[in-house]
Amino acid sequence: MNYTLITGACGGLGSAFTDILAERGTPLFLTGRSEERLTALQASLKAKDPALEIEIFPCDLRSEESRAALFEYADGKGIIFDRLIYVAGVDTQMPFEQYDEGRILTQTRVNFEGAVSFIRRFLGRSPLDGKTEILCIGSVTSILPEPYFALYAATKKALEYFCMALRTELKGRAKVTVVLPGSMPTREDIVKSINAHGGYSRLTVLPPRKVAERALKAVRKNKMRVIIGFWNKLTNFGSHLIPMSWRMHFAANIWKKTTKDFYGEERR
Ligand SMILES: NC(=O)c1ccc[n+]([C@@H]2O[C@H](COP(=O)([O-])OP(=O)(O)OC[C@H]3O[C@@H](n4cnc5c(N)ncnc54)[C@H](OP(=O)(O)O)[C@@H]3O)[C@@H](O)[C@H]2O)c1
Repeated sequence: MNYTLITGACGGLGSAFTDILAERGTPLFLTGRSEERLTALQASLKAKDPALEIEIFPCDLRSEESRAALFEYADGKGIIFDRLIYVAGVDTQMPFEQYDEGRILTQTRVNFEGAVSFIRRFLGRSPLDGKTEILCIGSVTSILPEPYFALYAATKKALEYFCMALRTELKGRAKVTVVLPGSMPTREDIVKSINAHGGYSRLTVLPPRKVAERALKAVRKNKMRVIIGFWNKLTNFGSHLIPMSWRMHFAANIWKKTTKDFYGEERR
């Protein structure tokens, strides 16, 4: 039996992936930082389908020891993975001068280092038979350098380029897809930010379940990089028609209106 490994499984988008795959009866290996939340999620999925195979293991993606412990646990159980969905991400949005070292380490490790480390370990525990899937969640913010959201956009760009390159290395053995969603109303601070950014921003919003469905379809079809949603695709197209200095000016005006500083230990 092969498992789908999902990071950020208790989060807004992660739980959408988890729900969809649980409804399909897919064996799941779920991770997030909190054992308590993972146990509650496991219990609620089991209540809906007692036959569903679910493993949980808490992991702080910032920590190499914690990442290694998860795969040691999986090895102890003889688990083989055939799909990795790397959803975890930290979206600190504020002037860079207000960052401290904790914010820098957290964002770069969770958004990029953790993904690369998970992918390496995942590859050694997968059939690599051409059906193996690696799906990473990027962001439309990586389309441009984003003043006031600079580090987040840069880490998502790094993830995007890494996935695109790896895809060629793994051709015929694994499908590798990076999807770029726009805004999803997954947390209160994100909803506030969407409302503060006005009309066009609201047009680009999609519910996490829709994004998860489209992302799963994209990796099944072995797409390289998919921007999710009509308005996000249009923004991408339009942004390449204007000079970079204008683009930077527009992006700065959008992101300096609000801040997001959600990187702590507690969710919601
Ligand atoms: N919402 C949006 O508007 C939007 C737009 C574009 C892209 N995205 C991307 O979509 C993904 C999901 O975001 P979301 O909106 O669902 O936000 P979310 O609800 O805050 O989910 C983020 C997830 O990341 C996990 N995470 C954070 N720090 C971690 C750490 N140190 N170790 C392990 N896991 C950690 C959290 O897990 P625990 O709290 O359970 O530990 C949480 O489940 C992210 O990659 C985000 O960048 C979101």
